[in-house]
Amino acid sequence: MEPTPTATVEEAQAELRRGLGRTLLTEEEIRTRISELAAEISRDYAGLNPLLVGVLKGVVFFMSDLLRTITIPVSVDFMAISRYDPSRKTRGAVRLIKDLDETIEGRHLIFVEDIVDTGLTLNYLVRILRARGPASIEVCTLFSKPEHRLTTLPIRYTGFELPDRFVVGFGLDYREAYRHLPYLAELRPEALQLNAPDRL
Ligand code: PRP
Repeated sequence: MEPTPTATVEEAQAELRRGLGRTLLTEEEIRTRISELAAEISRDYAGLNPLLVGVLKGVVFFMSDLLRTITIPVSVDFMAISRYDPSRKTRGAVRLIKDLDETIEGRHLIFVEDIVDTGLTLNYLVRILRARGPASIEVCTLFSKPEHRLTTLPIRYTGFELPDRFVVGFGLDYREAYRHLPYLAELRPEALQLNAPDRL
């Protein structure tokens, strides 16, 4: 989806909408749920100064909204990973390409994700973090696809459980597009077929 330099705003917006199906969650529904999660976290972690840890990139949208609605002192840090086989999404095989800046020994960690699908990424990263001796680790995810889960790691805070559909927006992308949408929408099957089915 290369932007054409001559496109008007309307043409560019129409191009963006072309691949999208129905909206599953509106911006308001998502923001309301994030406020509820932030209120729970603020209550549960009062006095503990937790460190919120996210794995780039999809989480930045949820993380920034969550941070702005949490009402107690918190810190934030990010990790980045690369997948050995992104075409097949072999979720177990990840390599850490950016580690945390903070030392986590004795800290209360909240591992924040945009989506937990198979749970393998989470499982791998939480195992690495646990070995560093934090006081506690809990998981907070905006979206979850429980039908796909291959692990049993407990998730303390879940925003929404999603059906088994290809969805984009609020951090979730299709070939790096659509992440910036402030709502969650289905991607039309034609859009998937038109692009590259092998990427799924
Ligand atoms: C997404 C998401 C999680 C992971 C979840 O990242 O942010 O890290 O997939 O999948 P799993 O539960 O099956 O392991 P993605 O690889 O799409 O990278 P991105 O955040 O840069 O989009």
